[in-house]
Amino acid sequence: MPHLAWSDDLDTRIPELDAQHRVMVDHVNRVHEAAADGERESLLAAMDDLIECVRKHFVFEEKVLGMIDFAGLEEHRAGHEDILRGLQERREQLETIAATEAESLIDNLGPWLVDHIRHDDLDFGPTVREWLRDAAPPDDPFRKLVGDT
Ligand SMILES: [Fe+2]
Ligand SMILES: [Fe+2]
Repeated sequence: MPHLAWSDDLDTRIPELDAQHRVMVDHVNRVHEAAADGERESLLAAMDDLIECVRKHFVFEEKVLGMIDFAGLEEHRAGHEDILRGLQERREQLETIAATEAESLIDNLGPWLVDHIRHDDLDFGPTVREWLRDAAPPDDPFRKLVGDT
């Protein structure tokens, strides 16, 4: 059973963002599997993959929010920076701590990312969908970027 399960209340109903969020959840589960195996190198590699995936997702999401002039963009970006900093700090700690301590160090990663989706990303879902419905012409490249809702 995966450590972190997807649930429908995480859906922003913006196809591309939801797809990226699901990939993030998969990466969190891979980090937990690697921690359970107790192999430091594979754990660090899984952590690197998660960080890269999260970083790319945040760049994409901020681009989307910039395109619609989302009022909370700066606050949202600050939340992303906090998460990336926290992930990077844990990555550094994982290099030195005992393998037995790794699982407790990463224990809150999933809830933390999921909380961001549930409380912060869901906030902009209606604005993006409204923009698509009312403002974006049918052939607007933005529609291609986020997927038609
Ligand atoms: Fe997100
Ligand atoms: Fe976000």
